[in-house]
Amino acid sequence: MSQARGFRILSDLTNQIRDRMSRIKYKIMVISGKGGVGKSFVSAMLSLALAEKGYRVSIMDADIHGSSIPTMLGLTNMRHYADEEGILPVEGPLGVSIVAMNLMLDSPDLPIVWRGPLKSKAIMELLAKVKWPQGDFLVIDLPPGTGDEAITIVQSIKDLKGAIVVTAPNILSEVIVSKAINFVVKSNVPLLGIVENMSYFKCPCNNQVYYLLGRSTGEELASKYGTRLLARIPLDPLIGEALEKNLPYLIAYPEGEASKAIRSLAEEILRILQP
Ligand SMILES: Nc1ncnc2c1ncn2[C@@H]1O[C@H](COP(=O)(O)OP(=O)(O)OP(=O)(O)O)[C@@H](O)[C@H]1O
Ligand SMILES: [Mg+2]
Repeated sequence: MSQARGFRILSDLTNQIRDRMSRIKYKIMVISGKGGVGKSFVSAMLSLALAEKGYRVSIMDADIHGSSIPTMLGLTNMRHYADEEGILPVEGPLGVSIVAMNLMLDSPDLPIVWRGPLKSKAIMELLAKVKWPQGDFLVIDLPPGTGDEAITIVQSIKDLKGAIVVTAPNILSEVIVSKAINFVVKSNVPLLGIVENMSYFKCPCNNQVYYLLGRSTGEELASKYGTRLLARIPLDPLIGEALEKNLPYLIAYPEGEASKAIRSLAEEILRILQP
């Protein structure tokens, strides 16, 4: 392929992304330098909490290798289809539109063996070729770290309204999460704030609070970076139960401690963005 043709294809893709993304008002990404802190859980449940309030929400699973949004939303058996206008999102609970590369595979347990440039291209293709519905919110769930996927998202969506950084209470995650915060700030994406997940465990037997993962650091991180602690989400064993039953936790356990925290996170996001 000639260099000129290569540039033309890239510029077409960029224009398509701008065009399709203009259908959605508030595009926010969920990021953390660390794996396993609950980014996908927060992304999926926040989408549902916003949809509960009547907003039109889409969610994009940008974790190509470790896709978990379909699982969090109980949709692993669904598949994407396409028509002449593009790839159709899968309709999930409460009308949330889901887009995940994993829902294009013959079987969800097949690995996607792609290196960086292919992953970046795939994310750009999804942004450009999905028939994104007109909407209020697009929540983007990123894989851990500040690698290809995160870079592609911040470079491809020029009007990202913000980033939510997820952390968990311990020193190791504090250091790594700081990297994610610095990435957001350097990318000129507004930092909406920090979510501390797995913050504590409130025992249903006696309402006693236990800090199972250690000292809470969300407050300190927030003040260090001049941002806010958006929410502290407790550990809730019912999250695992919901996953086992293939049900979205927020819907299966609306009164769960973490459901309450997620709803207050949604309120906080709405208060900041004022859609
Ligand atoms: N508050 C919580 N209480 C109990 N379990 C939780 C909580 N938050 C998340 N989990 C569980 O912890 C596991 C990791 O969460 P999740 O997949 O959302 O993390 P992640 O940061 O997206 O991970 P990865 O970096 O691999 O993408 C999941 O099984 C999830 O259900
Ligand atoms: Mg994840």
